[in-house]
Amino acid sequence: MDNSKFYITTPIYYVNDQPHIGHAYTTILADVLACYHRLIGEPTFFLTGTDEHGQKVAQAATKNGITSQEQADSTVVRFQELWKKLEISNDDFIRTTEPRHKEIVQKILQDLFDKDEIYKAEYDGWYCVTCERFYTEKDLDDGKCPESGCGREVDRIRESNYFFRMSKYQEWLIDYINDNPKFIQPDYRRNETLGFLRNELTDLCISRPKSRLDWGIDLPFDDDFVTYVWFDALVNYISAIGYLDDEEKFKKWWPASYHLIGKDILTTHTVYWPTMLKAMGLEMPETIFAHGWWLVGRDKMSKSSGNVVNPMEFIDQYGVDPFRYFLMAEMTLGQDASFTEDAFIRRYNAELANDLGNMLSRLMKMLDTHCDSKIPEPGPIGEDEENLKQVALDAATKMVDCVENMHIDQGLAALAGVVREVNRYFEKKQPWTLGKEGKYEELGTVLYFAAEVLRIISGMLYPVMPEKMSELRMALGLKVGDPDYKELSKWGITVAGTKVSLLKTLFPRINVKKDSGNDKKQQNQQKKKQQDTGGLSASLKDRRAAEGVAQIEYTDFTKVQLKTATILEAEKVEGADKLLRLQVEIGGEKRQLVAGIALNYKAEELPGKVIVVVANLKPAKIRGVESNGMILAAGSGDLLRLVTIDGELPSGTVVK
Ligand code: ME8
Ligand code: MG
Repeated sequence: MDNSKFYITTPIYYVNDQPHIGHAYTTILADVLACYHRLIGEPTFFLTGTDEHGQKVAQAATKNGITSQEQADSTVVRFQELWKKLEISNDDFIRTTEPRHKEIVQKILQDLFDKDEIYKAEYDGWYCVTCERFYTEKDLDDGKCPESGCGREVDRIRESNYFFRMSKYQEWLIDYINDNPKFIQPDYRRNETLGFLRNELTDLCISRPKSRLDWGIDLPFDDDFVTYVWFDALVNYISAIGYLDDEEKFKKWWPASYHLIGKDILTTHTVYWPTMLKAMGLEMPETIFAHGWWLVGRDKMSKSSGNVVNPMEFIDQYGVDPFRYFLMAEMTLGQDASFTEDAFIRRYNAELANDLGNMLSRLMKMLDTHCDSKIPEPGPIGEDEENLKQVALDAATKMVDCVENMHIDQGLAALAGVVREVNRYFEKKQPWTLGKEGKYEELGTVLYFAAEVLRIISGMLYPVMPEKMSELRMALGLKVGDPDYKELSKWGITVAGTKVSLLKTLFPRINVKKDSGNDKKQQNQQKKKQQDTGGLSASLKDRRAAEGVAQIEYTDFTKVQLKTATILEAEKVEGADKLLRLQVEIGGEKRQLVAGIALNYKAEELPGKVIVVVANLKPAKIRGVESNGMILAAGSGDLLRLVTIDGELPSGTVVK
């Protein structure tokens, strides 16, 4: 990591309802990244906040019988309280109803209007209230909102409005994205945006007549209109750091290192925002990173699906730090992950209660029994010690690399590996026997090495579990306050003679009740499912057995996510006569796939076909072309036909 500066943002969340685990996740992730950058000594600015204008908030207010401002004022507190509880270390919290934000939005609008980047025209098209987005006829998916996971009814709208000349930046944006591979991450999200940009970009409607919606920032040049909520919201990333107000502060932090977002708001961040910045003459953010969704079963956790887990209740039961740890360790950045209490308990008991917690209490007990609760002087060291030291230092370096490359889960896995290693070391050296036999030199080495490993691990885990790791470090007699990577990347910092004390069990084991436990419940459900399908598909089983193909469990089959997809475009892959590059749509999400069907299908006969794809296949490059998923086809020899759907079903429907 270079030692310049780190500016990270989260989306600003709508105040139409209370926060759930999805919001908590993005904010914790930003916090963890900010803390790691502080740990390595980089000046860091971490921004979060709330999006308080627009139709969604106005509608929630009407429903609750209060004004929009009251709706915002009462809901913002829930976000602020949750962030406090989750130990979020944001440097600022911006609300779009604050004068400091509104003034800057108006200055920008006036400036763009004066430069003829904004003009007035008649608008005629479709509008989705939930997504606050306009669509043309051909954008729609079966007449419904095409946004990922939305699919709601859209309203026809005809009215005068103001437009931002977004379309003129289309070619520039495509080139910029192609020239700057880090700009949109992960790679498959970049391809999604490039896919979107293959269609002609229209100008962006940036106003709403007050007669229809009066909850927003007045246009400075026409007070019959308020500003479109997305044009207002995106500006938060620069208004909060002093754009057009405190130029020194602005120069210090802009451009942002990361805009962290969920994949639901990719287009607004990778198309609207860059073109707005370009028109303002500002630099682009370094990286817009879109993470995946927390799912419940197969569905996105969302307010509208009514399947949200309340983070407040969860942390009241299990604690803040383990919750932060679980979210970071469980999700591979970019992909979707499923949130279950059982997975949480399993990981907690294995990695925190068992490996880390037990290690600490065993060490403390030994120090108490044999060393007067002081860290002993290490005696002579051998190969095991050299190895342990190396493993710990390597994991610390790896964690820093993983933060840089957005592989937080892998970094945490490496640290968990070190904890297992030090437990093995303890088992091998049997310090309790050394103590009994009075071999104090050897005992000193073992206890000192274990303490050193825990010093490094607790420091490297501090950004993820600040409170618990502070307790651990206090127990080890380390100095209070934020740890410093300079000390965590070195061996031998622990001073012999340091007094230690442990007040309580750091991670008490969660006992799952045998009869009513969740694990059990799920196991039973699974068993039942297997029995059900086992009955149904008996003949299939026989057939597979007869053909000599290994039988699989039903649960193996459920790992493969099959979905219907509509082919949007197809073209030949240059230099490969069997391959076609397909752009498909899977339930509102656009994807690129490479398929070996060119000998059997002409590119022009494919658009419009509804096919079946493996939706959760890891992305791969085929002949240098990115492929996100796999089509299903039946074939033998040169004969090959696509698997299609009998009857009408929307794309994105699960095939089971
Ligand atoms: O879109 N899994 O706000 P919003 C993971 N105000 N992350 C999730 C999630 C889930 N199931 N559900 C929500 C808005 N998120 C706009 C943003 S920014 C200038 C304006 C997270 O309240 C994720 O970060 O709908 C997603 O992008 C964000 O919450 C959407 O929050
Ligand atoms: Mg949303």
